[in-house]
Amino acid sequence: MSWLDGLKAKILIDEPLSRHTTLRVAGPRARLWVEPETSADLSMLLRRAKDKKVRYLIIGSGSKLLIKRKVIPLAVHLTSPYFTQCYPEGSRIAAGGGLSLSKLVKTAYDNGLGGLEFLSGIPASVGGAVMLNAGVSWPRRREIGALVDTLEVMDKNGNCRTLERKDLEFDYRHSNLKPYIILGARIRLFKKRKENIRIKMRKFLHYRKATQESGYASAGCIFKNPNGASCGRLIDLCGLKGRRIGDAAISNKHANFIINLGRARYGDVAALMALAQKKVKERFGILLEPELQVV
Ligand code: EPU
Repeated sequence: MSWLDGLKAKILIDEPLSRHTTLRVAGPRARLWVEPETSADLSMLLRRAKDKKVRYLIIGSGSKLLIKRKVIPLAVHLTSPYFTQCYPEGSRIAAGGGLSLSKLVKTAYDNGLGGLEFLSGIPASVGGAVMLNAGVSWPRRREIGALVDTLEVMDKNGNCRTLERKDLEFDYRHSNLKPYIILGARIRLFKKRKENIRIKMRKFLHYRKATQESGYASAGCIFKNPNGASCGRLIDLCGLKGRRIGDAAISNKHANFIINLGRARYGDVAALMALAQKKVKERFGILLEPELQVV
């Protein structure tokens, strides 16, 4: 591909995207799958893609992504050592945007830094988690955004900048970071005994295991909780647990989870989502808003 000449990156052609989303919906492919080595390579890639009018999609861990289109022209994945760095700086941790959240949580534990335990077991990249302000509602609402000190970001023209705390806005599963690609984050933590960190991590993992689906491919919660209510509870009260369309099904364990029983297609998942929205709207007058990005 001549327009990619000189770019330091791993490049795959016609890459199946079922491998790169946790829901593993079969069918969509990336005409080009690119893993740039550094931010300079990412910048060059974005500039050239803009010149060529090639639309791109940044894919992190693919845990909140449902792909409708058959072909994505350019998928960009930040997984090189540059984008997955992680090191402590006093009571903060600097983490690359492509680092997995589980590695961030483990580094915090290894260094006796507390504050991230509630994120244990959430499948995400640091960039994706910050972008969507990942969090939990049990035993109380907690989100990663509250811990972010500064961010290194790149705009869609390939220019880097640092965002300070005062530049950041976070809300429930929302941030003001949509115009950017997150290259790295500094997370503010606090000194804590490792044993106490471990106990708390286990508490969150245990709750997750007890209440959520883990044996099948899924995208976690499909809809955002509307104003304090739990979508899982609302969908459950509509009697939809176990409902199956094609190879997609509403989980018997948690009704806000759609699971892939094998070869689920986009249409199966979309039909189940529409069914849940229709039933909840009819019964409770609430329109459920998807938590996952549909592209
Ligand atoms: N419930 C039901 N039926 C169900 C599911 C839940 O009756 O099928 C009830 C539960 O018994 C509980 C209440 O609903 O009384 C709340 O359930 P849960 O504790 O599982 O929390 P949630 O509101 O459904 C939220 C987050 C989860 C997070 C959990 C735990 C959202 C959309 N979901 O779920 O996040 O793990 O709290 O803190 O905010 C995600 O975003 O992907 C996700 C999994």
